[in-house]
Amino acid sequence: MSLLDDVAQLEKEALREIEGADSLESLNELQIKFLGRKGCLTAILKTLGKLPVEERKAAGARANQIRRTLEECFQRATEKFTVKKDKTFFDPTLPGTGYRPGVVHIINRVMGEICHTFYGMGFEIARGPHVETDYYNFEALNFPPDHPARDMQDTFFVEGDRLLRTHTTPVQPRELEKRQPPVKIITPGKTFRNEEISTRAHVSFHQVDGFLVDEGVTMGDLKGALVAFCRAFFGDELKLKFRPSFFPFTEPSAEVDISCFLCRGKGCQLCKYSGWLEILGCGMIHPNVLENCGYDSEKYTGYAFGMGVERVAMLKYEINDIRLFFNNNLRFLRQFA
Ligand code: DAH
Repeated sequence: MSLLDDVAQLEKEALREIEGADSLESLNELQIKFLGRKGCLTAILKTLGKLPVEERKAAGARANQIRRTLEECFQRATEKFTVKKDKTFFDPTLPGTGYRPGVVHIINRVMGEICHTFYGMGFEIARGPHVETDYYNFEALNFPPDHPARDMQDTFFVEGDRLLRTHTTPVQPRELEKRQPPVKIITPGKTFRNEEISTRAHVSFHQVDGFLVDEGVTMGDLKGALVAFCRAFFGDELKLKFRPSFFPFTEPSAEVDISCFLCRGKGCQLCKYSGWLEILGCGMIHPNVLENCGYDSEKYTGYAFGMGVERVAMLKYEINDIRLFFNNNLRFLRQFA
């Protein structure tokens, strides 16, 4: 048998075996067997030297041609077992990347929940400007010029008589001026104070104020509304305590503590072992405020209250640093999804 016959025989055999290979590993083994340094084709080529020059040329050319054919076959067979990673390839069985939907910021959500609770009790929602005048932020609310109570609220002044509102209470005279009793409103929004930023204080935070003005409104009505709100918001069985306090725009004024909803008044870290949590300020609207807004304070009375949204959220979710609300750490914010 001539060398050419050997080569032809080898080609047939190799093609058949490549065709039958059932894995990448067996293909690799075949490649070594036929084309490797110690493989069949190399073995045949080594005998070329023994041939006469004429025959050697033809056989060499034929052997090289077979090498190329086999290499192409291996290449094609290999592709059968490997996934091509080109742009058009789509594997519908892979899990999706999953877009996380955004969530409402926890402060907006708590503010919404507070409003929702009062809305259910018949309060309308009203808003006012962040850049406020001295008149609505202080004067109309019975803070006379140079009154020391102005120092309770470190103010960012803008220019002239303009300032960043230090509370949402100025919406009260703004709305009272425009309306006729009964007026029953809550006022959610952003507020600003020139304070040292700490775990408990920030320069920008949120409040919800509420007020009702009508004939015959009493402190009993205020208490009823606040008990209903606190129980709806923090838990059915909690108790409220009204402590005397001072605000220029209410008389009498009070601060409300709720019995700690975490330990039920027994004493824990949240309530600093007092059993009580300070939650809001309130009182009967000062007659001067009513008169400033054009109401006859002999005929009409009203109550008002105001609370800090961050404070309420920190208590409800046991958050110990107000700055967490504002530094936009998604791991923090997503907890409230
Ligand atoms: N404006 C007060 C503050 O920022 C909170 C407040 C107290 C609001 C009593 C009221 C109120 O409407 O009646 O500290």
